[in-house]
Amino acid sequence: MPGHLGPEAQRQLVETLRTAVAAAPLVIPVMPRTGRPFTVRMTNLGPLGWVSDRAGYRYQPTHPETGKPWPPIPDPLLRLWREVSGYPQEPEACLVNFYNGGARMGLHRDEDEEDFAAPVLSVSLGDTAVFRMGGPERGGRTETLKLASGDVLVMGGASRLCYHGIDRVLPGTSSLLKDGGRINLTLRRVTRP
Ligand code: SIN
Ligand code: FE2
Repeated sequence: MPGHLGPEAQRQLVETLRTAVAAAPLVIPVMPRTGRPFTVRMTNLGPLGWVSDRAGYRYQPTHPETGKPWPPIPDPLLRLWREVSGYPQEPEACLVNFYNGGARMGLHRDEDEEDFAAPVLSVSLGDTAVFRMGGPERGGRTETLKLASGDVLVMGGASRLCYHGIDRVLPGTSSLLKDGGRINLTLRRVTRP
């Protein structure tokens, strides 16, 4: 849904995220086993947060460094979920990805959740990203789509388990974040109700 969030809604979300990140700082996750760092920095909102470290990928109720619960998912995001997810229960996790100029994310599937009946709902803020989307099998054909500030993307139904990633972020394409870069929020239902 291109431009689903207007400029004021985007600014308010960024304000809310500043407060949340002060309580739950961005961390540089590392790949399981290899310990290779991600180029994206992450934190979470909600009762559960997605983390990656040498032990593996998982959802957990607390921030890995502060040990405190993640800040709550802000109301505008809960309203957005109710409006567009088509899923009766609330989301449990909002992963916050921060991309600076050189950050990217390799092709992967979101498959650490118990219930694939719920979609993954993505909100883009800041600089435009080149999003790559494939099919359900690794190595299949892929296509790209630009995600700009305010765009909302729903990965549900047949696309819920499709491979996706971020090739790159295009610097200078938005003035929302004063130092540039991109924030992506993904809302997820983790447990089966
Ligand atoms: C993700 O797949 O977790 C993030 C996708 C994005 O940054 O748009
Ligand atoms: Fe993903």
